[in-house]
Amino acid sequence: MTPDIEFPEGFIWGAATASYQVEGAAREDGRGVSIWDTFARTPGKVADGHTGDVACDHYHRYPDDVRLMADLGLSVYRFSTAWPRVVPDGSGPANPRGLDFYDRLVDSLLDAGITPYVTLYHWDLPQNLEDRGGWTSRDTAYYFADYAAAVHARLSDRVSNWTTLNEPWVCAFLGYGSGVHAPGVTDAASAFKAAHHQLLGHGLAAQNLTGTLTLTLNMAPVVTPAQIVDVAHVLTDDDAEAIRRVDALLNRQFLDPALKGTYPAEVLDIAAEHGGLDHIRDGDLEIIRQPIDLLGINYYNPCVIQAAAGAVAPPAWPGTDGIEFVTIEGPQTAMGWPVIPSGLSRLLVRLSHDYPDVGLIITENGAAFHDKVVGDRVPDSDRVAYLDGHLRACHQAIAEGADLRGYLVWSLFDNFEWAEGYHQRFGIVRIDYATQRRLPKDSALWYRDVIQRNGIE
Ligand code: FCB
Repeated sequence: MTPDIEFPEGFIWGAATASYQVEGAAREDGRGVSIWDTFARTPGKVADGHTGDVACDHYHRYPDDVRLMADLGLSVYRFSTAWPRVVPDGSGPANPRGLDFYDRLVDSLLDAGITPYVTLYHWDLPQNLEDRGGWTSRDTAYYFADYAAAVHARLSDRVSNWTTLNEPWVCAFLGYGSGVHAPGVTDAASAFKAAHHQLLGHGLAAQNLTGTLTLTLNMAPVVTPAQIVDVAHVLTDDDAEAIRRVDALLNRQFLDPALKGTYPAEVLDIAAEHGGLDHIRDGDLEIIRQPIDLLGINYYNPCVIQAAAGAVAPPAWPGTDGIEFVTIEGPQTAMGWPVIPSGLSRLLVRLSHDYPDVGLIITENGAAFHDKVVGDRVPDSDRVAYLDGHLRACHQAIAEGADLRGYLVWSLFDNFEWAEGYHQRFGIVRIDYATQRRLPKDSALWYRDVIQRNGIE
């Protein structure tokens, strides 16, 4: 039977996790300390003092987890390698026992017919490098390239899908700007440096990677409340200017250097006012602009703003005085994020239009809800509705010409949701943290059917 909505042949279906959020085994086999170990131990930083020490114990339970992925029919598993597992001090010799874990994981994925997608940096910077300035230091970009080369050397005979960075905006502007993420620095100038040095690290690492290369960014269409209701709404000049600034900070700050070899003028102006531009050296943009095959899109909700005289820039958004970040009415997830699937089609179509040379893949999309266990089931119809809506939005964008190659749900498991600890559950598979039992939610069973029919009924 043909589904109502069918995806192109060969569309990639998968699920994603990240090392610190699922692995646990924080002190095993020579793993060094990461900034998230430190941050989680700093009182008041993570809800209820939760840490990733045990998480989903994926480090030990990966064989069962891979079986579960195979049962769901996933064709791809996106995971990240932990830099402090591979290079415990951040620079210097690699730790073979750390690499052994990823070796075993890759082998069992391949045995199960699942393609590994490896992300090299999903926020767990070695603490030793943070002590030397972290991403505000230019050296970190070079150490990142060395670490990436070590992982590549060990796995590239079996892995051909590589992502350098995950969401450099979040790492820079929440990690070094607002400080709600590790390392908890609150300084706009540091945030701009962290953004640039991550991009530099991306470029340096990319030069030595072979296979299909991806850069994953958190992106959102930047819109006014009126545009959500009416796509054709005509903007005031002030709103249009506000959108340009926020879009430059959130989206083009990373897209333009990586794909065009330029920085948006708005970003240079704002960074110049916040610490200057000395960290950007001649030749950096040529290094940053490396050919990549896929742009990884992590989408959760649009960024809703409007011009508002007197509004003061929030710590994560330097240079946005006079712009209000608007909370809108309507359905939202347990994170308080609005559910607006049309934002995803809008984003995909825009990316295909403005950056036509790169293929697109959704590397994260999903939602946290307050799940209930009923007997042996988790009837998470709200999550099913969220995923269904966003997959329809993907389909719509493809129909409008977006070159979208695949979709990876965030997340395979409930896991350590950064500053929210274990309180927010994004998984399609429930984790009972007391027993480590895995229980596929209704959304997982629904997703299995979607994958099987390559579409939605
Ligand atoms: C993204 C992160 C991912 C997860 C989701 C909810 O910003 O990449 O690790 O926390 O948000």
